[in-house]
Amino acid sequence: MKKTKIFADANLNVGAIDRHIFGSFIEHLGRAVYEGIYEPGHPAADENGFRKDVIGLIKELNVPIVRYPGGNFLSGYDWRDGIGPKEKRPVRLDLAWFSTETNEFGTDEFMKWCRIAGIEPMMAVNMGTGTILDAARLVEYCNHPGGTTISEMRRANGADQPYNVEYWCIGNEMDGPWQIGHLTAEEYGRKALEAAKVMRWANGEMDGAAGPNGKLKLIVSGSSNHEMPTFPEWDRTVLEHTYKQIDLLSMHRYYMYSASRKRPLEDFLGSADDMSEYIGTLQATIEYVRAKERSQKRVGISFDEWNIWTVNAPRHEPLWKRAPHLLEDVYTFQDALVFAGLMNTLLNHCDAVKTACLAQLVNVIAPIMTEKGGRTFRQTSFYPFRAIANNASGKTVRAISDSDTFENMFGQARYINEAVTHDKAKREVCVSLCNYAQEARAAELELRSFGDLRAAEYIEMTSSDLFAVNSFDRPDAVVPQEKELPSVKDGSRVSLTLPAMSWSFLKFRY
Ligand code: AHR
Repeated sequence: MKKTKIFADANLNVGAIDRHIFGSFIEHLGRAVYEGIYEPGHPAADENGFRKDVIGLIKELNVPIVRYPGGNFLSGYDWRDGIGPKEKRPVRLDLAWFSTETNEFGTDEFMKWCRIAGIEPMMAVNMGTGTILDAARLVEYCNHPGGTTISEMRRANGADQPYNVEYWCIGNEMDGPWQIGHLTAEEYGRKALEAAKVMRWANGEMDGAAGPNGKLKLIVSGSSNHEMPTFPEWDRTVLEHTYKQIDLLSMHRYYMYSASRKRPLEDFLGSADDMSEYIGTLQATIEYVRAKERSQKRVGISFDEWNIWTVNAPRHEPLWKRAPHLLEDVYTFQDALVFAGLMNTLLNHCDAVKTACLAQLVNVIAPIMTEKGGRTFRQTSFYPFRAIANNASGKTVRAISDSDTFENMFGQARYINEAVTHDKAKREVCVSLCNYAQEARAAELELRSFGDLRAAEYIEMTSSDLFAVNSFDRPDAVVPQEKELPSVKDGSRVSLTLPAMSWSFLKFRY
């Protein structure tokens, strides 16, 4: 059996893990909001119409922050449509997804849902058809205590105290011709700078000084993926316009399995290492602009849409339906394997990636699926997310491995893909390991300078059927199995056998 050695030393840290990297995303798209998180009349709905069964599953995932309301939807959305008495709210055509938007759920409902679910909101302002004043007024609506027409509207709508939203996305995928009101990098860069400026002013921030509730964390739209013809020039240009005003550059990326590729499996399994390179390029772009700006400030990355997305439903079918079944990918075991690798990548880049949103959270390319009026199930991808988001904390430790590699459409990728984290306060070390080889592999872990380690948890996900899925009728077809705890030699050395095509997660304590 081939052996891979993985070495990690407590003194070699990548950086602190910001828990915001375990965020997610709810867009007005398909059944994410309606029949997803919000379904009045469902047996599990509370008095607000929020599905408690869904909130329970989201709590299991330990998601700290949720981005809202879009996505492509954002660029045609007027936030005023979603506030005030529900019976007076307009019904609109949603031109992003060719659906009907009833606006029964809007900003105030989202804020209430966040409070009940124990989640921090990440709001987004429309830069496609919206103005910079619309953006500033949404900040005013959410964060200004009272005494102005806009803030009094919020109070009249039931929220006496401001929401004090800290994280704000300035637009969504503005580099994409599919975006309503798509702009060039120059146009968007200029507009985003002005939007950022007035959004800060609406928050009471002046000349770099904090407002009464602190400072907004502002995110500019970076590239929608690294296959965009404008990548990475888009990012450079936008950063050059906005660097002084913003905190984070967004990036998006979805990976897919395609049977029509030359090496379908290898090309898919190469996703995690490709994501790593993509982050590296944007990190370098940020550093370039920082140097040019002679700035001390380090702009971080908000990876605010990432996932596996294979089913590309035509967005016009069914035309103008309310809550249509759109983008309802059912994730395979193989998807979960790649997904775990993507999470490893996020952890391994925690020095740069400060927020990330799994896109999306419910029904739409999501770890949680719901039936109208009925059941839920956890997708295969639910499990790596749950284990990692609940356990990987503190710092990521740089892991050095001698894994061999395989060729794929992105270049070379490692058969053994790992992330090691260390929480000094909790005295815990976690290791997430993917084996992308078609045969079992031996892994020799050498976890040095942490203390006298003993194994505390060990789970493994594997399946003889790469395309096995969970469903409403077979919700537990693909789940991780608990394994016998391995012994730790000299408090630091662990020998494991990783089955062919598997993901393993271990927790050690000292
Ligand atoms: O998450 C689904 C869609 O993917 C979002 O609306 C858009 O931002 C991205 O293209």
